[in-house]
Amino acid sequence: MKDSKMKVLITRSIPEQFVTRLSQYAEVEVYGETMKPMPREALLESAKDKDIIISMLSDAMDKTLMDSNPNLKAIINLAVGYDNIDIDYAHKKGIIICNTPDVLTETTAELAFTLMLVTARRIIEASTLVKEGNWVGWSPYLLAGLDVYGKTVGIFGMGSIGVALARRCKGLNMYIQYHNRSESKYAKELGADYVSFEELLKTSDFVICTAPLTSETQDIFNQSAFSKMKNSAIFINVGRGGHVVEQDLLDAIQQQTIYAAGVDVLNDEPVGRDHPFLTEERITVLPHIGSATKDTRDAMIERCIINAEQIIRGKSPVSEVK
Ligand code: GLV
Ligand code: GLV
Repeated sequence: MKDSKMKVLITRSIPEQFVTRLSQYAEVEVYGETMKPMPREALLESAKDKDIIISMLSDAMDKTLMDSNPNLKAIINLAVGYDNIDIDYAHKKGIIICNTPDVLTETTAELAFTLMLVTARRIIEASTLVKEGNWVGWSPYLLAGLDVYGKTVGIFGMGSIGVALARRCKGLNMYIQYHNRSESKYAKELGADYVSFEELLKTSDFVICTAPLTSETQDIFNQSAFSKMKNSAIFINVGRGGHVVEQDLLDAIQQQTIYAAGVDVLNDEPVGRDHPFLTEERITVLPHIGSATKDTRDAMIERCIINAEQIIRGKSPVSEVK
């Protein structure tokens, strides 16, 4: 007898309880690695007979993959961002796309806020100095950084993460301005002012990118953008590496066009030891951990499982990207 259970591929190891749960309704294949993405060839091979793929942001969900399986019903991305998915093509083919919004909002805003403080106060440099045994004594200007309290923050991308970040910035009595595709009523309630991208760059002490990556925002933080920023400005990116021309950011730091930067996302992740940001003290680099708390990652996986269950039951998923 033909097995009528739907087939699901999960492209990374996730806690057993989730796999067990989904296995009640589906035939589940899990790629066993925790740290490494599924190799492209293995992914294409496994995807061929699946109904649903639960993908990671590091998996390219492109035309080739979608064309290799005419029965593919859904791709459920373990992330709020979905720039790894050819969304237009998926929609054209009637493939449902899901992501994990809401559950990671506060956690990601917290990381953006942390990165702003850590970069302004040179925390990584300070910790490294001590741990490497190079602390020779107290000194008036040892690792003197920048104040954050009362400064102007410019948030690029005022979606829910941007709003959650703005709320945190209010606690530091910051003046908040933002740029977004459209004005946000939530931002208005917080007293944040909508400004042009140009104005945001020119007048912010901290420019923080929380935007999703689209064709309009690709490379938007480039030489021209950095040249408009204050010499004392700090640039923070928790969106996607693709927003930034990395060489231009490096030049801006080295030529002191801006003061410092903190990035959680890079163009080509993971970066190797030879990436030029790694030896630049004024750039804090994190390994894409915006939503990385135990509780939030559990909630994101839970959200993916719920979406899969809904689709298996023929119901609407709870977070579909339309
Ligand atoms: C992570 O970057 C996400 O998009 O959830
Ligand atoms: C979340 O993980 C983000 O970096 O936006």
